Amino acid sequence: MTDHQAARVAVITGGGSGIGRATCVALIAQGFTLAVLDLDSDAAKMAAGSDGVGIAADVTSPESVEAAFAEIVKLFGRVDVLVNNAGISGSASATTCHETPVEEWDRVQAVNVRGPYLCSRAALPTMMAAGTGHIITVASVAGQIVFPGRAAYVTSKGAAVMFAKSLAIDYAAHGIRSNAVCPGMVYTPMTAWRLDQPELRDMVESKIPLGRVAQPEEIAEAIAVLASGRLAYLTGAALNIDGGWTAL
Ligand SMILES: NC(=O)c1ccc[n+]([C@@H]2O[C@H](COP(=O)([O-])OP(=O)(O)OC[C@H]3O[C@@H](n4cnc5c(N)ncnc54)[C@H](O)[C@@H]3O)[C@@H](O)[C@H]2O)c1
Repeated sequence: MTDHQAARVAVITGGGSGIGRATCVALIAQGFTLAVLDLDSDAAKMAAGSDGVGIAADVTSPESVEAAFAEIVKLFGRVDVLVNNAGISGSASATTCHETPVEEWDRVQAVNVRGPYLCSRAALPTMMAAGTGHIITVASVAGQIVFPGRAAYVTSKGAAVMFAKSLAIDYAAHGIRSNAVCPGMVYTPMTAWRLDQPELRDMVESKIPLGRVAQPEEIAEAIAVLASGRLAYLTGAALNIDGGWTAL
């Protein structure tokens, strides 16, 4: 680890669980100092490690996000990497268009689309002042192919992919890169209810060429490679990490 790497700061939303939690572990191992934003304050603090900061924040709230980034800039003075990871799949009532309650539709878009927008908006002035930065948005293969009966989630992840691409174009001249990571099916608290049922797991895994769902660490590893800066020419990309699912 170099001194330069040791000083780098990464902000991770939804870092208290699943893919976000595994990403925190991977980025700490890479020498990043972390700021972890999550609804769950204890989980955020735990994931941030001894040098980092865990902040209770709701990514859908402009006030909450602004306050969190003000604290981060005051504490660390920089944001090198933002991982827009916090997301929800919606409740069992978020199904097809005509069956999805309006408030459920809005809740899914708020966390999965408004959240990345608010957090990027808060991080960009600091990145622009530094002339560098990388925003990594965790979308989904559901932003590239349709999951039947999950209209709100699919729509939100399609928007998240295009949001990441839009940032890449609008901020390239500022030295800022933006990429989307699109996981396939990953075993986390979001999906455990389904994957813990053997018949449902078999059904899901039968669609995946590699024959298994991913572990959160496998997605975190891809985020960590992006965050490392080693793929310096990559921006505006949507990286599918899905065991071959979308290639079928
Ligand atoms: N698990 C999968 O199979 C899968 C597949 C593709 C994409 N994804 C995406 O990966 C991301 C992480 O998913 P996961 O499976 O790790 O989920 P998870 O439910 O395990 O973790 C999500 C975290 O986000 C936090 N969060 C939720 N709403 C928030 C809000 N309003 N403000 C702040 N924090 C909030 C939760 O408290 C939790 O800690 C999501 O964007 C999800 O859509 C997951």
